[in-house]
This record gives sequence, C-alpha cells and structure tokens, in this order.
Amino acid sequence: MATPATFRIWRGNAAGGAFQDYTTSVEEGMVVLDAVHRIQAQQAPDLAVRWNCKAGKCGSCSAEINGMPSLMCMTRLSAIDLNMPVIVEPMHAFPVIRDLVTDVSWNFQAKKMIKQFKPRPPDAADGTWRIQQADVERVQEFRKCIECFLCQDVCHVLREHNKHDEFIGPRLLVYAAALEMHPLDTEDRVSDLRHKHNIGYCNITTCCRQVCPESITITENAIIPLKERVVDRYFDPLKRLFRI
Ligand code: SF4
Ligand code: F3S
Ligand code: FES
Repeated sequence: MATPATFRIWRGNAAGGAFQDYTTSVEEGMVVLDAVHRIQAQQAPDLAVRWNCKAGKCGSCSAEINGMPSLMCMTRLSAIDLNMPVIVEPMHAFPVIRDLVTDVSWNFQAKKMIKQFKPRPPDAADGTWRIQQADVERVQEFRKCIECFLCQDVCHVLREHNKHDEFIGPRLLVYAAALEMHPLDTEDRVSDLRHKHNIGYCNITTCCRQVCPESITITENAIIPLKERVVDRYFDPLKRLFRI
C-alpha cells in the first residue's frame, strides 16, 4: 500500500545550498534511492544523484541518510522512521559538485601514492607461484572493497580535521593492507605508512568499520596489523637498543 513520506534533500553546489522537502508516495520494498528517483522523475528533474548498479556493488550512491554515511540503494525505507522527514545529504568529507553528488577524485589521487604490488620471482618451473590458501584468505577480505568511500566520509581525521593532505584514510589503509599482506609482495611500505600516510592519526575509533557496506573488518584486520608493523620497526625497545 502506498503511503506518503517526506524526504529532506540537500540541494546546492560548491557555493552553498539548503535542504528542501519533497513528499512522495512510498511502497513496501523501496530503498532510499527509489524515493530519490521518484522525486527526481516527478518533482525535481534537475536533482543530481549518482548511482549505477542499484545492488550495493558499484559504490556510486554514497550519501548521508539521517546523518549516517550509507549507500542509498541499500537503505530500506522499512528500516527508517517515516513519521519524520528522511534527511538525505551529500558526504561531508568531500567537496560537493551538486546536490547529492560529491567529488571523490582525491581518493584516486591519494591511492597513487601507495607503493605498487611488487611480486617475488616465480618459484615453480612453469613460471608460476605457490602460495598457502590461508595467506590468500587473509587478503581476500580487503578485495571486497567497492570504493564507496563511506569509511573515508565517517573518519573524523578527514571529516572534521580535514587532513586529506596528510592522512590516506581507512579505505586506502585497507588497500595498503591488501598489498602489504599479499603473500607474493616484496615491497616495503612501513616507512611510508608512518611518515607519508600518517597511520598514527588513526586512533582506532572503529567508525569506518561500522559503516562499511561490505562488512570489511577495517580496523581490526587491516589498520591494527599495519600499525603493529610500524610499532615493531620504530618503537620496539629491543630493536631500538640494537639500532643504538
Ligand atoms: Fe566502502 Fe568498505 Fe571499501 Fe571503505 S572499505 S570504501 S566503506 S567498501
Ligand atoms: Fe578513522 Fe577508522 Fe581510524 S574511522 S580514526 S581510520 S579506526
Ligand atoms: Fe551501486 Fe548503490 S547504486 S552501490
């Protein structure tokens, strides 16, 4: 049965903007992106919204719904209190292009600063490698990332402190972990993690892990093991003693 619901959507661009209310009918099974599309089709044809798969796999429809970084295509209206206006706004950690669309290109630029995969030479006569299944499984989780950048959006280091020039953020720490823990990789990223990517800025709030739509255990499985590598190298008292 169709019922009315109000969506308070941020409209504007880099110069500024404001929330506007739109009331539309919603039905069982709809997600926030469906409602935004209905509003776009019937009331606001110039409303900018980015999306692609509508299946939680392209990472395009990231926004903030009632203050929570979320994928619009995966947020069911049945999980929201529709007695209040549903607040939909663009991600805060990135510059607004228009309405619900933000410019996330900084993430791709920052990604280029991370040292690339550098495999060891093949170890079999046929020119291939032999690796343990357990080692493959360790990094498999990180490869589920859909680059929605919701974790970047929620992290206070980027969101509140605007440290984009210094800190690569949880998504890119997951990327670094996938490379660093790859059983064939021989590159050394530990110095960069400390000095260039400033992993020390992460104070393990776990907010990133809590918003990840792929349920990647960002903090515990990626960031903390990378921090341990940094600590082992630079802060282990025995190693420091031998360095002296
Ligand atoms: Fe999105 Fe999770 Fe990847 Fe972060 S780690 S970009 S929240 S899928
Ligand atoms: Fe930020 Fe995640 Fe660390 S939200 S502070 S990167 S645990
Ligand atoms: Fe692809 Fe939402 S439209 S993740």
